[in-house]
Amino acid sequence: MKRKILVTSALPYANGAIHLGHLVEYIQTDIWVRFQKMRGHTCHYVCADDTHGTPIMLRAEKEGISPEALIERVHGEHLRDFTGFHVGFDNYYSTNSEENRQYAYRIYNALKENGKIVSRTISQLYDPVKHMFLPDRFVKGECPKCAAKDQYGDNCEVCGTTYSPTELKNPYSAVSGATPVLKDSEHYFFKLGECEDFLRGWTRGSATVAGEARARLQEGAANKMQEWFEAGLTDWDISRDAPYFGFEIPDAPGKYFYVWLDAPVGYMASHRNLCDRLGLDFDSYWNKDSDAELYHFIGKDILYFHALFWPAMLEYSGFRTPTGINAHGFLTVDGAKMSKSRGTFITAESYLRHLNPEWLRYYFAAKLNSAIEDIDLNLEDFAARVNSDLVGKYINIASRAAGFITKRFGGQLASDLGSAAVIGRLQAASEGVAAHYEAREFGRALRDVMALADEVNQFVDAHKPWEMAKQEGRDAELQRVCSVLINAFRLLTIYLKPVLPSLAADVEAFLNVAPLQWQDSQSLLLGHTINTYNHLMTRIDPKAIEAMIEENKQSLAPATAEPTAPALDYEVPPIAETISIDDFMKIDLRVAKIVEARAVEGADKLVSLTLDIGTETRHVFAGIKSAYKPEELQGRLTVMVANLAPRKMKFGMSEGMVLAAGGDGGLYILNPDSGAKPGMRVK
Ligand code: 2FM
Ligand code: ZN
Repeated sequence: MKRKILVTSALPYANGAIHLGHLVEYIQTDIWVRFQKMRGHTCHYVCADDTHGTPIMLRAEKEGISPEALIERVHGEHLRDFTGFHVGFDNYYSTNSEENRQYAYRIYNALKENGKIVSRTISQLYDPVKHMFLPDRFVKGECPKCAAKDQYGDNCEVCGTTYSPTELKNPYSAVSGATPVLKDSEHYFFKLGECEDFLRGWTRGSATVAGEARARLQEGAANKMQEWFEAGLTDWDISRDAPYFGFEIPDAPGKYFYVWLDAPVGYMASHRNLCDRLGLDFDSYWNKDSDAELYHFIGKDILYFHALFWPAMLEYSGFRTPTGINAHGFLTVDGAKMSKSRGTFITAESYLRHLNPEWLRYYFAAKLNSAIEDIDLNLEDFAARVNSDLVGKYINIASRAAGFITKRFGGQLASDLGSAAVIGRLQAASEGVAAHYEAREFGRALRDVMALADEVNQFVDAHKPWEMAKQEGRDAELQRVCSVLINAFRLLTIYLKPVLPSLAADVEAFLNVAPLQWQDSQSLLLGHTINTYNHLMTRIDPKAIEAMIEENKQSLAPATAEPTAPALDYEVPPIAETISIDDFMKIDLRVAKIVEARAVEGADKLVSLTLDIGTETRHVFAGIKSAYKPEELQGRLTVMVANLAPRKMKFGMSEGMVLAAGGDGGLYILNPDSGAKPGMRVK
């Protein structure tokens, strides 16, 4: 039975680079889609950039460009990165599109007609300098519980408390630095509470897939839903005030749809755009009685939007609801959260500069299953696994057999493979491996495939073609054994093709065959002429991984979704000319303890400091008297330039320099974080 399937991955925000954390999802989805296509089903994979909202608006402003220019540039970057990882979208579109506006309006109007939209006035923090309401993440202040400074308006990163931005002490706008004020505004709400009965049924329900009932949500997700129902569903605020980059709400001038309203509609918009280009029947996918399957692959953090808001929006606006929501966990690298300082916050672009994308596709696939579990990229294991499985077990089969076929038999395979049991087992595995892919149990699929590769390697070792090749009169046998190997390699390639599409294309060229489909596992290549073998995949060199990590350590770019810098009431000089890391490393900065600080007679700016830098003591004159009394400095840790040439001054020799921030806004000596010790290098 030929199925009609539409698949999506979450739409990435249009203000940041794609990184390996994102790629878990796109690779997972792409593998599943490629598998469905190989099975002969009609399967489309659509995605888009998520382009609206305050962070994108402010980011564009900071860059001095229009939001449209920003999202256009990022669209190109995202598509380049996805293509680099062989993520084969049928359409990669944008939520800032006419199609999206139309479907957002259509859904909103239908919800309104169905009595699911209500408006009421609420009071929110407003930036009186920027003239804008502040999203929670753009208000900062002191945590109401632990008093930690500079915490976001929704939760404290120090003690973990969640609160509302109005509870922050000494709040300030992260956009302008101004103190926010409370201001009233009319907002539009989607009455999610009224959808509870429907949602309880929907989230526990199942959809019929190829004649069988299949749960819409994974077990972990269904449990989460239960918690949310018990906590009670509250109405969802779907409007934002100008200035906002998004779609203006019909009949509500100055009010815009909150980005999360039109983001999932972007799935429809991208699909509509694809249908229009290919002449497909969009409605047959989205009508209430559609026979098509619809799957959303997402991260566990956005389950609420996809398993509650989105199905409710669709249900009450006359569209079909998703067949399934497939949530995955987060990526850790070497067992920890990705970190910019450790160099494990790896962008797609930088990975591709150093490593082969199919290595990562294989590694992720080997670790993926259908549960909502985090997966770890252990860099050592990554190299070991790829080298042993892909190169050692799989590619090795072709490289051991191809030379003999080319040199001894003019590239021609035997027309009869004899009774090689291993081929029968490879062919018989087809449906089992397929079932694992279908169930998103990619790790299991690959374990089965590698067990088969092991059997093939045992066959090689048992038959020793290299010995046959040296013995007279064993030509037919040699041709048959090598033909078994080439056929085995072809079958393994079919099973690996969803994961390794580019390698599979190279294998197809080598085997001189049309693009392999799943069904091809039930036929064999007999009497067929293959092309000369060229090496198909190299091993991972751990040095390339190290170089990538190093590179990501150096590019400590600020988080892209961060609020922009506050407007300044002091002067900031322009950034100096770029220097290389080598230039910077010439400066030897050390943690220094101020063991003694004295005023200098006859000098009104200078303080005389005695500094302990672990292995020695230095004497330095610092021009900080206007800002510090000597007795305040004694005992403090600071940072000094330890390899500055000594300078003779009027009052004596100065053996280095203490670092201080300053300008017309005051003078502040640097303090290392607690725990630093005298003599530690700073870099
Ligand atoms: O969390 C995110 O990155 C969102 N941009 C995902 C949107 S998914 C869909 F609903 F558009
Ligand atoms: Zn706190």
